[in-house]
Amino acid sequence: MRLILAPMEGLADVYLRRLITAQGGFDRVVSEFVRVVDQLLPESVFYNVCPELLQGGRTDSGTPVRVQLLGNHLEALAANAWRAIDLGSDGIDLNFGCPSKTVNRSQGGAVLLREPDTLFQVVKAVREALPAPIVVSAKMRLGYDDTELMLDNARAIEEAGATELTVHARTRAQGYAPPAHWHELARIRSAISIPLIANGDVWTPADYHSCSQTAGTADIMLGRGAIRHPDLARRIRQNAETPMGWPLLSQLISQFWSEVRADMPEKYCAGRLKQWLNHLRVAHPGAEQLWQGVRAERSTQALDALIRAMEADTA
Ligand SMILES: Cc1cc2nc3c(=O)[nH]c(=O)nc-3n(C[C@H](O)[C@H](O)[C@H](O)COP(=O)(O)O)c2cc1C
Repeated sequence: MRLILAPMEGLADVYLRRLITAQGGFDRVVSEFVRVVDQLLPESVFYNVCPELLQGGRTDSGTPVRVQLLGNHLEALAANAWRAIDLGSDGIDLNFGCPSKTVNRSQGGAVLLREPDTLFQVVKAVREALPAPIVVSAKMRLGYDDTELMLDNARAIEEAGATELTVHARTRAQGYAPPAHWHELARIRSAISIPLIANGDVWTPADYHSCSQTAGTADIMLGRGAIRHPDLARRIRQNAETPMGWPLLSQLISQFWSEVRADMPEKYCAGRLKQWLNHLRVAHPGAEQLWQGVRAERSTQALDALIRAMEADTA
């Protein structure tokens, strides 16, 4: 069984990656994507997206981090893949799932799922640029509008030399609307022989087992489930359904806030806290209560006071 923390641009940043992997249970993390246009990017871009490269390519708790690249320019992808590996990335992941209109308009992300041959060329270019032992993985959705090219896409990625494939069990057109179509993953599982990592709507240990059984793989990537429940991977390994309670979670929120406050420009701090709370509040009444106080506040000083009040309440 392998459990991987999903790339989530603007959400699973270095602060949440650190906090979530510290709860245990994860084998690997994939970074937010680095967008490649037609040039070799400066090292600073990689360090910004993936500061873990400055500490051996691992989170503080030692979980390896893999840089994800997004683009379609073969030479530029190959050169940037080299650079990421040189800086300490644990392999390279290629993004064929991003639904953003802007990204798709410039022929990046999920739009490439309409062109299995382009997927093949992209994976091959990166594979051939890197020494054989270095892992090249890809992440795709079931398709763009529909699943017609799903198996062609998966086979193209395998034939081009990818080491493993993660599939988010929805098409681009399905966005994030539930349910995730895990049964489609079983068709991909039968069509390829490289490891398949299943992804989409695993919120609980019970979901892990259903998804794993339906898709036919024990390897699962956890996204929003781990944002909502930072201890999800550990509980899947322990088969423990009960999530961490509010006293512990509120300590993590405090820790998150103090790290964000210490490191980030002040104007971004409130947004980070609100974004995480917006996910947490669905499952944790304490987070909903904090969210109600925080949502309208802009000043970081007011947020400091709300966090202090929460700490006093839960002490
Ligand atoms: C805010 C957000 C940002 C995302 N950014 C990326 C990304 O940079 N690269 C990527 O491959 N997938 C990205 N995804 C998709 C997730 O990796 C994952 O496939 C999706 O959330 C489904 O898994 P889940 O149901 O476990 O969250 C993003 C998802 C969200 C919600």
